[in-house]
Parts: sequence; structure tokens; C-alpha cells
Amino acid sequence: MSPPVRIHPDLKSLSRAAAEHLVALATEAVSERDRFSVALSGGATPRETYALLASPAFALLVPWTQVHIFWGDERCVPPDHPDSNYRMAWETLLRHVPIPADHIHRMRGEMDPREAARDYEKRLRALFALSPEEPDLPRFDLVLLGMGRDGHTASLFPNSQALRESKRWVVAQEVEPQAAWRLTLTPIAINAARLVTFLVSGRDKSEMLQRVLEGASRPEELPAQSIRPADSKLAWMVDRAAASALERA
Ligand code: 6PG
Repeated sequence: MSPPVRIHPDLKSLSRAAAEHLVALATEAVSERDRFSVALSGGATPRETYALLASPAFALLVPWTQVHIFWGDERCVPPDHPDSNYRMAWETLLRHVPIPADHIHRMRGEMDPREAARDYEKRLRALFALSPEEPDLPRFDLVLLGMGRDGHTASLFPNSQALRESKRWVVAQEVEPQAAWRLTLTPIAINAARLVTFLVSGRDKSEMLQRVLEGASRPEELPAQSIRPADSKLAWMVDRAAASALERA
């Protein structure tokens, strides 16, 4: 069954809807489990959503003292580097809201990449201290993802080793052609989430979005297709420009 795709007129309305989505999920998770664990996406698309969540209209609606922030991926750069996903979230959202500092679980991009991946997985295992009967996977309440024009998501790039990872929750990847290193949750860790929501905006994503949602299943070539959470808790929130090539739009 294909996942639900909600189409919004533009990035502004998509961002507002995404902020409302996060508030609703946080409220529900905290009322049920006293905690909301969300893995944020990097890139440009979610910036406006994060800024909205920090604005007076939304900030007071989120139970920040019970929110735990993680990342789906990170560039292997220091936290104050312009390319850091942590820095983007810190500047647009986290520095403006009363979230306890020890609830912000950034991937340590400044470390040796492979060591940083092991370190983050170790911290996830401690934070998601699973009861014995639970499957050995992290249960994020929400993983927020973007999608690149090449169909990548998080830092899962086409034909990359990480797509075939069957044990580790976090891996380090050298990403061509920039030969830059990145850290990423693996599909098994993302797919264990209660809900995965993609935010996609812009006409430059339309052809890829049509292939990912309506084309043949080629997850190695189109990593966004490797995101298939159990009991299909997957949602796509897109703007009209990104949806312009969809047959179903
Ligand atoms: C990153 C993201 C990446 C991003 C896509 C879309 O670290 O850059 O995790 O997966 O979501 O590349 O990026 P835009 O939102 O900038 O188009």
C-alpha cells in the first residue's frame, strides 16, 4: 500500500503543517510515554519548520522538558561548522526553546567518523535502554527526513554500503564526489521508528519524487525507497512544486 502523500501549496504552508505535525506527535508521545524522541533531518527544507517551532505561536505548545532531540545524519565537521546539521537546528530552534541541554543528542562530527558512529550507537543503546522482550532497535517516535535530487535520504546515498547494513544502527560513510565523511542512521534504525515523515519541497525534486513514489522499486538506486517502517508508519509532506510530476497529485 503506497504511503499517504499530503500536498501543500508551497514551502510556507508545508512548514506550518510540519510544525503542527511535530506538536501533535510530541503531545501524544509525552502523554503516552512521558517522552518524545525525534531524529531531525539536515538540509535546507526543514529550516522554516524549525524556526516556526521556535516562534511564540508554537514554542509554548511543545513539552520541551520531555523532548529528546537526535539526528538522522550529520556531516563530519565540528558543531560550529556552517555545514553542521546540529548547528542549523541549534540556530533555528534549539537555542530558542527550554529544552534541557542533556536532551540534545548530537552526532559528534568532530570525532574520527568511524569512532563517532560507534559512539552514537552506544549512546542510542543507552538512551533506548530496551526491555528484554523488545526488538534490538531504537524506537524513535519520529524520524524526520528530507530527500535529495538523487533520491538519497539522511546520508544514505545511492549504491552505498549503508543501505545493506543489517546490524549497525549508525555508520560512517565517505560521500563522493566531495570525498566528505558523513554519519547516518541506517535503514534498520530508521525503519524501527513509530513514524517516519519526509518533507520535500521544490520543483527540482519533482522527477525524483515521482520515481520514488510511483516508479519501480529500486531501493539501492533510490535510497528513499529503503525507508519502509514496520506497519507502514510513513508519511510524505510535500509542496505542490515537488508533487508536480506525480500521477496521483
Ligand atoms: C543532509 C540531509 C539530507 C537532506 C537532503 C535534502 O544532511 O543534507 O540529511 O538528507 O535532507 O539532501 O536536502 P535539502 O532539504 O537541502 O534539499
